[in-house]
Amino acid sequence: MGQKIAVMGAMPEEIEPIIAKLENLKVTEYAANKYYEGSYRGKSLVVAYSKIGKVFATLTATLMIERFGCKQLLFSGVAGAISDQLKVGDLIIADGLCQHDLDITAFGHPYGYVPEGEVCIPTDKKLRELAKRVAKEKGLILKEGIIATGDQFVANAERKAWIGETFNADALEMEGAAVAVVCSALNVPFFILRAISDAADMDAGFDFDTFLESSAKTSADFILSMVEEMGK
Ligand code: ADE
Repeated sequence: MGQKIAVMGAMPEEIEPIIAKLENLKVTEYAANKYYEGSYRGKSLVVAYSKIGKVFATLTATLMIERFGCKQLLFSGVAGAISDQLKVGDLIIADGLCQHDLDITAFGHPYGYVPEGEVCIPTDKKLRELAKRVAKEKGLILKEGIIATGDQFVANAERKAWIGETFNADALEMEGAAVAVVCSALNVPFFILRAISDAADMDAGFDFDTFLESSAKTSADFILSMVEEMGK
């Protein structure tokens, strides 16, 4: 059935549409979380949601690779828009991810940088190309840009503008860069897809609650289409 593919989200809503499609489902409880193994269109998947934020995302991504033996990782979820080109329900793939809340500027370093790290971690080019091919085949619009990650739900126009300017970011969320750190350190090709749920402004909390489920489904459906095409 080929190499195992990790499909990760942060919240139940982000992975439920994927778990619903798994065949031969096996659930393993480990490290205070559930890991769903199964197959989809002849591919072996390990699916899990991490819980929100960089620390939980790091734990889950690491375990999917080190304990469950996944050789590639696809992340599916929702994000707040920074770019005014992005509207609720739009899909964006990360070409790179940075940590907007990582700050040792007191020592003369740029925002998002720590020694021996990098400000922006690139995602796998082949997976990005596959995503673009799938989008084209399905007639879907897929934006590409930098996604900024931090342990903050941003609902503030000033903070959003600062993140946009400082990192040249188009969208923001709370897990992507943590997954990027893990996967790049372990040499695992990875891909981060997000559908917009809000505009990270003063209405973000309300919009997030309103659009979480529909945008999460938009992202998950796209991931399933990609899995179908993987290895072809
Ligand atoms: N994920 C979706 N919307 C978000 C926001 N406004 N801030 C952080 N993460 C998000």
